[in-house]
Amino acid sequence: MARGRFETYPAPDVRPDMSFLEMLDVVNEDLIVKGQSPIAFDHDCREGICGSCSMLVDGVPHGPLKGTTVCQLHMRHYKDGDTLIIEPWRARGFPVVRDLVVDRGAFDRIIQAGGYVSVSTGSAPDANAVPIAKDVVDQAMDAAQCIGCGACVAACPNASAMLFTAAKVTHLGLLPQGAPERSRRALAMVRQMDAEGFGGCTNFGECQEACPKEISVETIALLNRDFLRATLTERSASRSEGAI
Ligand code: SF4
Ligand code: FES
Repeated sequence: MARGRFETYPAPDVRPDMSFLEMLDVVNEDLIVKGQSPIAFDHDCREGICGSCSMLVDGVPHGPLKGTTVCQLHMRHYKDGDTLIIEPWRARGFPVVRDLVVDRGAFDRIIQAGGYVSVSTGSAPDANAVPIAKDVVDQAMDAAQCIGCGACVAACPNASAMLFTAAKVTHLGLLPQGAPERSRRALAMVRQMDAEGFGGCTNFGECQEACPKEISVETIALLNRDFLRATLTERSASRSEGAI
């Protein structure tokens, strides 16, 4: 694998109302005009909802504004003449593809392991047809805000993917459609997370600070509870099978 290096690019034509990604667009247009390779970076929605724009700005995932993706960060938060250090996510589970682009396929494989409801739940019912307690709905919908950006992994000293995995397990497991597969889902997704090379959670809490959707570390406590209960159930089931 090639060793990376830093490059310095001037950005003279940047206006305060430009987003961070528009600033990169302007820098890239200049590079293309000069016959140089543009800086590769991921982006899609530019509205803070797709999770593609993954990069560290001055060592902080998504930059200095709390609860903000880098596509929603604007240049007015910087002074003329500032030097910004922009890096890709740094984690074994997210191999660097090029420049600021990393392969976040590991997150897709964690979802494929169990982040779905595997039975047909029919068409969308009326919102009030299945009564669910408001505090449960609130918790599920808070977790459902996860956009899969990977900032939690990039911020964690262990490169743990627990906040992402916990958000996905929690939002499905708390709702009636996802509850029947809650245990199987927790086991499968945590095992896939481990297989992808992400580290364990040791309660630093950096993930919560970096998360642009401000997902709480309390979801990790819920995942740990589900995982423990599922592991104990699995063990006692395999002991009973052995006893037969
Ligand atoms: S939990 Fe937050 S930081 Fe992690 S992937 Fe989801 S939105 Fe991004
Ligand atoms: S480009 Fe979609 S969240 Fe930033």
